[in-house]
Amino acid sequence: SFIKTRIKKPESIYKKLKRLGYEFTAENIQNQLNDVAGIRVVCAFIDDIYTIADLITRQDDITVIQVKDYIKNPKPNGYRSYHMIVEIPVFFSKGKTEIQIRTNGMDFWATLEHQLRYKQNIEEMDGYEEVSNELLNCARAVIDMDNEMQRIKNKIGQFHDI
Ligand code: GTP
Ligand code: MG
Repeated sequence: SFIKTRIKKPESIYKKLKRLGYEFTAENIQNQLNDVAGIRVVCAFIDDIYTIADLITRQDDITVIQVKDYIKNPKPNGYRSYHMIVEIPVFFSKGKTEIQIRTNGMDFWATLEHQLRYKQNIEEMDGYEEVSNELLNCARAVIDMDNEMQRIKNKIGQFHDI
């Protein structure tokens, strides 16, 4: 598995504050946004996600503020990941950090979907609905494969530890 860190782009910070109805100030960035600093953990199997989330939760110096399980409750477009908003002392800044935990399959889908969708006015494009449906079908294919790989892992795991 691998870990990727990211910092929200100033433009995205500006847009989000505006959407929430706040001015673009340092104080509002600190107090109103949970996801200026982000960590993504990408792993192989669905059960790894919950193992990692559990390890993070058990850390004495990490306070879990919020959990969003988009694996048990995927977004309507098919997005799946496990999100934790945590407070980590002496990290980036004093602010909160968003940790996204997902399988390689979920990461593959989310990265491509993000690339494809994050174009200006894409919703107005001809055939956008069809494209959305096709992306949703891809998400379902990824879910099926993740579940299948998990099932195979459990089966093999009865014979030796992995
Ligand atoms: P944002 O305003 O996008 O930050 O959403 P939010 O504050 O409502 O939080 P949420 O947990 O829904 O999403 C946080 C982050 O998860 C986003 O910044 C993305 O990195 C990721 N994410 C959420 N939904 C999607 C999605 O539909 N597609 C992709 N590719 N990523 C998503
Ligand atoms: Mg966010």
